Amino acid sequence: MQEDYNRRKVDYHHIHATSNVHFDIFFEILNISDNQKVIDVGGGYGEILLELRKRNANINFYYDLLEPSNLQLNKGKEKFLKDLSFDAVQKYIQFIDSDLMSFTTEKKYDHVIFKMVLHEFSLENKKNALKKAKLLLNDNGILTIWRPYLPSYIRNFFSAVILKKDELAGFNTMQKTRYFDSEDQFNSLLFEAGIKPVEPVFIFEYLFDTYRRFESELHGNTSLYKEWLEFIQEIYYNETNALKNQVKLIKGDKGIYINFQRAIYQYK
Ligand SMILES: C[S@@+](CC[C@H](N)C(=O)[O-])C[C@H]1O[C@@H](n2cnc3c(N)ncnc32)[C@H](O)[C@@H]1O
Repeated sequence: MQEDYNRRKVDYHHIHATSNVHFDIFFEILNISDNQKVIDVGGGYGEILLELRKRNANINFYYDLLEPSNLQLNKGKEKFLKDLSFDAVQKYIQFIDSDLMSFTTEKKYDHVIFKMVLHEFSLENKKNALKKAKLLLNDNGILTIWRPYLPSYIRNFFSAVILKKDELAGFNTMQKTRYFDSEDQFNSLLFEAGIKPVEPVFIFEYLFDTYRRFESELHGNTSLYKEWLEFIQEIYYNETNALKNQVKLIKGDKGIYINFQRAIYQYK
């Protein structure tokens, strides 16, 4: 996984098509108070902190960025040092160069955040990842998860679209390890990890745009891109009416748009 993320030079804001309002709502849901301790698990280059900074002049909580990929972590260090004073980085930010599963600490957090990261764990490891998240929380701690919203009739199609891109982009470990769990699977995993499942606090559109991956992930390779688009159209054509009634595939000049969804859940 790490090898792939050490080569994956993408701007998540761009490929995830996240809007400022999505972040505004996410921060309302998170509701971080002064002096709280926050850990951003698989936080990439710390997009959460960078977005929070755009909204607040001062950082007044403790932010731990846990990230196993050096490329992502170093990008985060560079961006934070451009954005914040050296003293603020020293005081409030910790860069944790680790995989969640091998991470050990006595520290307990007010907020554990998994943003677009649970799918990085294989189905076998997801329950342990959730158990680990629970262990990191203090007594009043809150776990916030942001993930693809996948009713069971959408899961297979969504997963096939993304994993085909990973295959074509040469992200071999990601292709083998990542698992996109359906809502039912997710709720069962939470339950097994000792976390009471809840309904999402916020479900929002993720207007998937293949072209956003063309340069950044397929390196502008037109034959790989064409193969991906043909694959998507073929599997969509063979999908159920249940899926087609909700998920629309629109062909544009440069690629395909698909109206997927994402959701944010909070466990207190
Ligand atoms: C899709 S990216 C999301 C990054 C960030 N959370 C965001 O939304 O901008 C997934 C991140 O999870 C990290 N990751 C993958 N496996 C992990 C693991 N076992 N423990 C912690 N982080 C992991 C990857 O290195 C990558 O940075």
